[in-house]
Amino acid sequence: MMDGRVYIFDTTLRDGEQVPGCQLNTVEKIQVAKALESLGVDVIEAGFPISSPGDFNSVVEISKAVTWPTICALSRAVEKDIDVAAEALKYAKRGRIHTGIGTSDLHIKYKFNSTREEILERAVRAVKHAKKYVEDVEFYAEDAGRTDNEFLARVVEAVIKAGATVVNIPDTTGYCLPEEYGAKIKYLCDHVAGIENAIISTHCHNDLGMATANTMAGLMNGARQCEVTINGIGERAGNTSLEEIVMILKSHKELKLDTNINSKRIYPLSRMVSGLMNMPVQPNKAIVGRNAFAHSSGIHQDGVLKNVTTYEIIDPRDIGLDNNSIVLTARSGHAALKYRLESLGVHLDEEKLDLVYQDFLRLADKKKEIHDDDILMLAGGERSKNHHVKVDWLQATSGIGMKPVASIGLDIAGEKFEAAATGNGPVDASINALRQIIKRHITINEFTIQGVSKGADDCCKVHMQVENDGHIYYGFAASTDIVTASIEAYVDCINKFVD
Ligand code: KIV
Ligand code: ZN
Repeated sequence: MMDGRVYIFDTTLRDGEQVPGCQLNTVEKIQVAKALESLGVDVIEAGFPISSPGDFNSVVEISKAVTWPTICALSRAVEKDIDVAAEALKYAKRGRIHTGIGTSDLHIKYKFNSTREEILERAVRAVKHAKKYVEDVEFYAEDAGRTDNEFLARVVEAVIKAGATVVNIPDTTGYCLPEEYGAKIKYLCDHVAGIENAIISTHCHNDLGMATANTMAGLMNGARQCEVTINGIGERAGNTSLEEIVMILKSHKELKLDTNINSKRIYPLSRMVSGLMNMPVQPNKAIVGRNAFAHSSGIHQDGVLKNVTTYEIIDPRDIGLDNNSIVLTARSGHAALKYRLESLGVHLDEEKLDLVYQDFLRLADKKKEIHDDDILMLAGGERSKNHHVKVDWLQATSGIGMKPVASIGLDIAGEKFEAAATGNGPVDASINALRQIIKRHITINEFTIQGVSKGADDCCKVHMQVENDGHIYYGFAASTDIVTASIEAYVDCINKFVD
């Protein structure tokens, strides 16, 4: 009888981080990796070392910083990639190389201009090469979702024989139907000789909104590892979301499938990832969305007040959503801030903590109560310190019966500039003033303003996407002042392309 332990393989820092505009620096990645460790994930995919020096360095530093989870590094089925992945993993207490190649006929023909037999040989060669460095080797059959099952079974059998300890069956394009994906995993369990010597892993993309359903179908048919990301982030429509799988398994005990996750750490980590990556969580997102536990219809509210289980299948406290969490104020000390950050999974060294504490005091001057999201935002923000273009001062006026007007002072690499303009509102006027100094054709494609916690004195976060010279850039800023946050986000974008 197959055991019911499901291994959680988190790829927030690899597949998740491939989202344009959401890249993290190494310090931020270490912060997320440590929080993933506290959450209880089994494997952290820390990067694709050959892809950039930044990715290489992140795998090295995460390997040093984290103790319990296995650290995994991605590679193609190419010797040089595998050598570099092994080098990046040298400090990992438990290291895994994740290597693989496309196995669908589409990939074989158009991506590799090759044949099934050649791909099979390359797959085996890659696993054998990775085995020279580490015992734990995971093989991925890219586009397995659209790979012929018979050929896939041959590949899986061959790589297990070559030493693969885990075999990943990605639905790379998010194409499979849940029944089809579940049947694929069952086919492998039933037809691959030696399948008991490896763990089958799911890796589902959400292009048709079926990533979670497909992952569940895989687990219910014999897979025992699932590859997931916090908030379901990832390229295009994203990957399977960690919190959905964990809470499905926790809610459906009859499946007899368990993880090692401490679910109470889910919500703080979801906020941390959203804050650091500047990627808002959709309000109706399952488990971690702002409205996931908000009952607004009268019938629901009445039922919930009589007995909470009438409409609530999960206790919000089980994911760490605690309405009674301590609220910090300007009188809260350094230790209270440290305690609250640590309970949210953020461990800062004394120097960084001092900087965050100074920012905290400044914010507490403007806002009576500081909530968890505020301090997560402060802990994640240090980006603007090295900006080439900085806002020295900004004044904008608007109101009923008057034309909005703004004036701005910029510091560009130490040189001072000033300009003034009108607009259809204070943000438009400020941007018009700024454009008089930065004489570039910049189009704003996306501009979102979101409150961090609650109240009229709340902090707001602004996300902006702009286009300059055919390239897309992302910017982010937060402030208790909407106009300031908007202009700082615009300037954050500008700093991505001026030098
Ligand atoms: O989606 C995919 O196929 C992948 C592999 C590289 C594992 O991310
Ligand atoms: Zn993927």
